[in-house]
Amino acid sequence: MPRRIVKSKLFFDEKFIDTIGEVSNEKYKPWEPNEKLKVIGKSIPRIDGYDKVSGSAVYTFDVNLPHMAYARILGSPFPNAKIRNINLKKAKELPGVLVIITSEDEPKISWYYGTTSLFDSHVRCVGDEVACVVAETEKIAEDAIRLIEIDYEELPFVVDAKDAMKPDSPKVHDWGNILDGKPSIYSRGNIEDGFKDADVILEDIFSTQVAVHNPTEVHCSVINWDDSKLTIWDSTQAIFGVRDQIAGSLKISESNVRVIKKYMGGGFGSKLEAGKYSVIAALASKKIGRPVKITLDRKQMNLIVGNRPDSYQKLKAGVKKDGKLTALKHYSYGAVGAYPSGAGCSWPLRSLYKCPNVSTEEYNVLINAGRARAFRAPGHVQGTFAFESLIDELAEEIGMDPLDFRLKNYTDIDPVSGEPYTSKLLKEAYQKSADAIGWYTKRKSAGSGKGNIKTGIGMATQIWWGGGGPPAYATLKLNRDGSVQVIAGTQDLGTGTYTFIAMVAAEVLEIPLEKIQVSIGDTSVDPYCPSSGGSMTAASVSPAVRDAAEQMKSKLISGASAILELPEDQLKYQDGIIYNTKDETQKIEISNVVQKMHERVLITTGARNENPKGYQANTFGAQFAEVEVDIETGKVKVLKIVAAHDIGRVLNRKTLENQFHGGIIQGLGYALMEERLIDKNTGKVLNTNMHDYKMATIKDTPDIQVIIVSQGDNLLNYTGVKGIGEPAIIPTAGAIANAVYNAIGVRIKSLPITPDKILNALYS
Ligand code: MOS
Repeated sequence: MPRRIVKSKLFFDEKFIDTIGEVSNEKYKPWEPNEKLKVIGKSIPRIDGYDKVSGSAVYTFDVNLPHMAYARILGSPFPNAKIRNINLKKAKELPGVLVIITSEDEPKISWYYGTTSLFDSHVRCVGDEVACVVAETEKIAEDAIRLIEIDYEELPFVVDAKDAMKPDSPKVHDWGNILDGKPSIYSRGNIEDGFKDADVILEDIFSTQVAVHNPTEVHCSVINWDDSKLTIWDSTQAIFGVRDQIAGSLKISESNVRVIKKYMGGGFGSKLEAGKYSVIAALASKKIGRPVKITLDRKQMNLIVGNRPDSYQKLKAGVKKDGKLTALKHYSYGAVGAYPSGAGCSWPLRSLYKCPNVSTEEYNVLINAGRARAFRAPGHVQGTFAFESLIDELAEEIGMDPLDFRLKNYTDIDPVSGEPYTSKLLKEAYQKSADAIGWYTKRKSAGSGKGNIKTGIGMATQIWWGGGGPPAYATLKLNRDGSVQVIAGTQDLGTGTYTFIAMVAAEVLEIPLEKIQVSIGDTSVDPYCPSSGGSMTAASVSPAVRDAAEQMKSKLISGASAILELPEDQLKYQDGIIYNTKDETQKIEISNVVQKMHERVLITTGARNENPKGYQANTFGAQFAEVEVDIETGKVKVLKIVAAHDIGRVLNRKTLENQFHGGIIQGLGYALMEERLIDKNTGKVLNTNMHDYKMATIKDTPDIQVIIVSQGDNLLNYTGVKGIGEPAIIPTAGAIANAVYNAIGVRIKSLPITPDKILNALYS
């Protein structure tokens, strides 16, 4: 099969933008580069690490209350059906069953934007909630579920987005299968003129599969009513979001709902919203006057708590012979499941490169399957795979190196808003990752290798938001013994929130980490912080913690000034001690300041600053993949991924690398093996467990090299931090797909890139 390997060189002719020292908010001097800091940027083991490995960390699942009962949910076995009759007689007679609630007796609480209710007598996907049994034990609840007799009227169903868009398709809702009845449209410039300007026009179709979040920890809640006050321990990414949604559903005040989450085994977006199960359990708990624990099983997690929607993407691009893009067109649809959600994936095409003429048209299509939810960089993962595959095709078509082609279309201005970025060090990321993988050398040996094994190398680019923003607050308490407590209404999904909060306080106050205790994840005591989604946590919370700590430092200096009877400008703060600069033997420890001020505890509350007006805050990066493809078996082995990103300042090198490893391994699974499968004849999901739903394991994990190119986006916030959770996964599948093409000379345009697709492409 003929193809061209393009030889080229880097052309980093423009200067990198360097935002160090350029600060919009005058409040605090930006931190020095990390190598000059004491704690920030170091590789620090998690402060909660011991609790986790010793098993003493209390996850939601571990919460056990006196007299607690156990709830399980019965889901629909059919993809579309109406419930004619529910017979609970046998189930209720089972000893140990306490209460059963169904569509027949619960208050009609609306759900999914009013398109269904907590229990609906019309079920629209396999797993849709039909009844909830609460019993003395989980086992009894499960047994009782099997004794419930439901008379269903099965209805015609549709489980494929393309089928669902046809006019004669069964309707998931009376109002139709296309959300809002129309596509979401974006355009700039004049797309037709753009194609007229082009020397080369390419059109291609890409598709991606449905992927399921499958975090390690199952979705679960523990409910306790104390009179009219409701406490919920929940495995959630959004303690305040869950509080408000549940208060609204049950029509009680937000202050009467307390949501607690101390430790968590992942969410990836599937735990960003309150679950029906939490509200169902709250209703059941109220009925029996006892605490209730509700857990979903792995099958339910694969059915009803979200997925990354699939995508059909038709892309068309126009380009000049010199590599300049003139027009980009994106048409796509994706299945959002049985209730409204989003499947849009055109943002990378809109925003990644300079291109004057762009148009996109996207359809969110309803089908009779579990509803989609945000999943780690929603839209960008599927969109980047398709767009960055097309970019490689364009580069080859005009005889340009793929990296050079990307640099040719580089922009320092956000093409969508026309505003500059707070920082963009993508060129530096390209250069460092290209050097690290040996791009220009290895491209030449593409397709070589011993016998059946062909090697290849490919790349893809990442753009995402992740700038974070207000409101986010942190309260800092300094005790008389010099110990510190930081309290913030954020949450740790397993990403290292506890540790970076302690590190920021330690950096400012110059005290050992061991003196700092971090309390998060409790809406009744913590000041507000945003949901942990959109890669916003560190970028929103760390500046608030710095603000609280800086205020504390000022308070201590002014206290010391009164105590020592010296002007503040004659004092120096160092390592938790305040010195007289003219006589350093005269000094006072900060614990002593608290005592001498006749305070029991000093308290400050810091706030996240506004993001600067007139700028876009984005994260950027590039990943390079090196793969081996066995052309006899069709198996792809990823040997190495180099990831170089501009994500602002690194807070903790260790947890940063953890995040990148996690994102890249998840991206590799998405590229090569993960796929929810539905039988079109029955509408049933075929792989609802972690044996049949293939995820990448340690054996699939390549050598991963993480390069961070920024020392901090000081224009953005007090710590210079941008998010990392989502950037890590965005370019992985695109880089692997481009590397596979480089290895075997045929392009796989549909994810996952499984051996059968490779063999078909090679030999049929
Ligand atoms: Mo994420 S999909 O914002 O948890």
